[in-house]
Amino acid sequence: MNFVTDTDNSIKKRWTKRHLLGLEYLSADEITMILDQAAEFKRLAAQGETKLGLLRGTVVANLFFEPSTRTRTSFGLAAKRLSADIVEFSAAGSSLVKGETFIDTARNIEAMGVDQVVVRHSTPGAPHLLAQNLNTSVLNAGDGTHEHPTQALLDIFTIREHRGTLQGLTVALVGDISHSRVARSNIWGLTKLGARVIVCGPATLIPQHVEKLGVEVATDLDKILPELDCINLLRIQFERQRSGLFPSIAEYAHLFGMNGERLKTAKDDVMILAPGPINRGVEITPDVADGGHSVILDQVTNGLLIRMACLYLLNPKNSP
Ligand code: CP
Repeated sequence: MNFVTDTDNSIKKRWTKRHLLGLEYLSADEITMILDQAAEFKRLAAQGETKLGLLRGTVVANLFFEPSTRTRTSFGLAAKRLSADIVEFSAAGSSLVKGETFIDTARNIEAMGVDQVVVRHSTPGAPHLLAQNLNTSVLNAGDGTHEHPTQALLDIFTIREHRGTLQGLTVALVGDISHSRVARSNIWGLTKLGARVIVCGPATLIPQHVEKLGVEVATDLDKILPELDCINLLRIQFERQRSGLFPSIAEYAHLFGMNGERLKTAKDDVMILAPGPINRGVEITPDVADGGHSVILDQVTNGLLIRMACLYLLNPKNSP
C-alpha cells in the first residue's frame, strides 16, 4: 500500500485535472490545493520523511528541448522522492538531429510505458500539443514565452510561507514582461489568489493591454518601491538587446536593477525573489541576491516540494 500523506485523500479527491499546462487554466482553489499539498510534503520532509512511496510503479519522463538547471533537476528529484522511475531525455544527442519530429519523439518515449511527461520547449503551446497527442499526463516545465506554471507556484508558495497569505500583498514583477513566461504564470496565479500585481519595466518590454489581466503598469521602479511587499526580479534575456526593444545593460541596471542603495527605500520586510538563473550586477547585485531580504534559494528548495505536489496530484495511476 502506498504511503499516504494526504491522510484522508481529501486534497486528491478534489483534484480533477490530468495536465498542468498553465495557471491560466486553474482556479484559485486548485492552485491552493497544490500549495497545500506541497506544504504537507514540506512538513513530512522536516520530520525526516523524504522518501515516499506514493508514485511507486509509475514512470515520469523529463523531456527537455531547452536548457535547464533548477526545473529539470527538481522534477527529477521530485519523481525519485515519490518512488517513481524517471527517464531523462535531452534534445541534444537524440534522434531529433536525424529529423524525427517532436510528436514522434514523445510518442516513442510514451510507448515505453510512461505515465507522466514533463516538457520544456521553446515553442509556446508545445505542452498543449503533447496533451492532445499523448495519453499521459503532461506537465509544462516552460513553453517559450507562454507559461512556466511550476515556477509561479513555487514563487507563490514561498511568499505564502513567509507572509501566510497572498491577499492584500503588493507584488511587483520587474523586467522583460513581454517575453517572460514566468511573468505570465505569476500574473495568473497571484491575481487569482488576491494579490495586487504591478508589472514594471521599460515601456518597450511591457505588453499592450496587459492591464486587462488585472495588473497595474509602472515604468519607474523607484516610484513604486516603497509600496511593495515582494519584488520578483525577472532574468534579463540578453538576446532581446539585439532586437532594439531593450536599453543598454548598464541603463537597465541603473533604472531597474536591485542594489543595496535602492533597497534602502523599500519596506523593511520586503521580499526579494528571482526565478534564476540570475545575472549578478544586472537585474540584481550580489549584496542583494545573497542578503537578508533574498528568498532566492528558498524558492529553489520549495520548487522540489511544488513539483512533488504536481506529479502526485496529476498522476493518472494515483486516483483516490
Ligand atoms: N527558473 C528556471 O526555470 O530555471 P531553469 O531554467 O534552470 O530550470
